[in-house]
Amino acid sequence: MMEHIRIKAGPRAAEQVTMPIKMRGENVSVFYGAKQALYEVDLDVAERQVTALIGPSGCGKSTFLRTLNRMNDTIDNCRVAGKITLDGEDIYDRDLDVVELRARVGMVFQKPNPFPKSIFENIAYGPKIHGLARNKTDLEEIVATSLKRAGLFNEVKDRLHEPGTGLSGGQQQRLCIARAIAVSPEVILMDEPCSALDPIATATVEELIDELKQNFTIVIVTHSMQQAARVSQTTAMFHLGRIVEVGPTEKMFSNPDDKRTQDYITGRFG
Ligand SMILES: Nc1ncnc2c1ncn2[C@@H]1O[C@H](COP(=O)(O)OP(=O)(O)OP(=O)(O)O)[C@@H](O)[C@H]1O
Ligand SMILES: [Mg+2]
Repeated sequence: MMEHIRIKAGPRAAEQVTMPIKMRGENVSVFYGAKQALYEVDLDVAERQVTALIGPSGCGKSTFLRTLNRMNDTIDNCRVAGKITLDGEDIYDRDLDVVELRARVGMVFQKPNPFPKSIFENIAYGPKIHGLARNKTDLEEIVATSLKRAGLFNEVKDRLHEPGTGLSGGQQQRLCIARAIAVSPEVILMDEPCSALDPIATATVEELIDELKQNFTIVIVTHSMQQAARVSQTTAMFHLGRIVEVGPTEKMFSNPDDKRTQDYITGRFG
């Protein structure tokens, strides 16, 4: 049975829309050694929407984000309890292939991190290792399409074989988004993707995120309240390892129920 949650379709859409739940965290606790970083977190992530995770530094946003594609597996000492599903399937199931999971749930990091290779190779690498291209023409097609979807193609089409590290910060971040898109993920996780960018590059990436939600489910961690308000449809407020409030972004920013949300969005703490 498909479950749905009700969310607002953004400032331009007056009516409520219903989207299926793409990912669900139930009773998620995370420990780093003896230290508990997340406490019994529940969160539904709606398909083809942007879900923003906000809250003061150290409250567990990145920790939660990493549970969604098991990036915490790579951290020694880290233990995850509870249940996380993708299309209803437990992603911590012992039979699940983590490499395949990370292709379905991609990630874009805070600092643009292109490989020290050409623009072309940065994007071609994932499709190659996942066997998504039958031949060179296929691969070129995937690279071009990914760059177009990331809004970068026109800027780099004449320099595809130059190093990705030679691009500007904003271009590098769009390259990383193109790289994430290239393996056709279903969900894209973004951890403060604009924090290293200037306001113009940030605006470009925000527009891109808005477009990407037509095809992808996005979960974004951000310290910018303006950004959360601009790009997301659902916002979850974290505080001291718990979600204290989650709801439609419009409501969270205009009329939150929890005083901690109110204080945080108005800059009284964090
Ligand atoms: N690799 C790690 N080893 C040990 N403790 C960690 C590790 N990563 C995070 N923590 C701890 O877990 C808690 C949550 O950290 P997390 O990075 O998830 O917070 P955050 O909300 O993303 O903060 P920020 O906004 O500063 O990025 C913090 O107390 C942090 O010190
Ligand atoms: Mg973080």
